[in-house]
Amino acid sequence: MWSPGSDNDSSSNKDNESSIISIRRLGKSFETGSRRKTVCYQVLKDVDLEIRRGEFFILLGPSGCGKSTLLNLIAGFEKQTEGELLVHGRPIGRPEKERAMVFQHADASLFPWLNVRENIEFGLRMRGMKKKERAEISARYIELAGLKGHERKFPRELSGGMKQRVQIARVLANEPDILLMDEPLGALDAFTRRVMQEELVRIWGETKKTILFVTHDIQEAVLLGVRIGIMSIGPDSRVFEIMENGLDYPRDLTSREFNLIQKKLQGIFQDDLYFHL
Ligand SMILES: Nc1ncnc2c1ncn2[C@@H]1O[C@H](COP(=O)(O)OP(=O)(O)OP(=O)(O)O)[C@@H](O)[C@H]1O
Ligand SMILES: [Mg+2]
Repeated sequence: MWSPGSDNDSSSNKDNESSIISIRRLGKSFETGSRRKTVCYQVLKDVDLEIRRGEFFILLGPSGCGKSTLLNLIAGFEKQTEGELLVHGRPIGRPEKERAMVFQHADASLFPWLNVRENIEFGLRMRGMKKKERAEISARYIELAGLKGHERKFPRELSGGMKQRVQIARVLANEPDILLMDEPLGALDAFTRRVMQEELVRIWGETKKTILFVTHDIQEAVLLGVRIGIMSIGPDSRVFEIMENGLDYPRDLTSREFNLIQKKLQGIFQDDLYFHL
């Protein structure tokens, strides 16, 4: 039977020289309620996590457990209430281009008055980069994201999957060290989602970026992640177990090994113990 921490490779969550993100005893609480009566809600408590440079790390947990909250802290959109959060060994200040967020809905992040190429070049233009250099960079990521031939289209002329690829290409064009992806494929239909998952694995293989990818979909977690961090339900949520996933890429959904890992994860979420962590 599964028990919390029983399969944990204890070496995988310890301080590591190759760590790009180090999270120690991290906590985050929100004050909610009216002005007359406020209640403190502790979303995250005692989160310990080391993310290695260049890895594809999955944060897996049910809705409301605090996945977006953790990602927002790493992005610098929010400040923790307890503990330590280091990127490249330094505390996180404000949001910076080294940590880029890909949101669930591309619509909210694309500029409707700019075409695909202009959207991808936006951050570069803001940094004052010359036109020729911008064009070279955007051409590279347009190619990588499979958007060649669509450069002049505006967001309203794109499918949901294409918009999401533009968002990913724009983020990559800014050359962040770390991609923070908050259920970026959640709103897509099953077919487009599979194509995007494959593209993401390919882009990751080619760029060697560190990816921290949030999902509540077990199959997606097994398909993408080198390691899968499993979060408890919350409040006081933490990453209570890290599962190593050594399957070769691209991964075969129908293989016995794939299904074994998937079943193991399903077992954790179905176990009574999970609800009492
Ligand atoms: N700004 C806020 N003020 C008060 N409570 C918040 C705030 N942001 C998040 N929370 C609470 O923190 C908890 C975790 O929210 P979060 O959005 O991180 O969950 P999640 O794991 O990303 O869920 P989902 O999978 O549905 O996106 C929820 O109970 C939510 O109500
Ligand atoms: Mg969320």
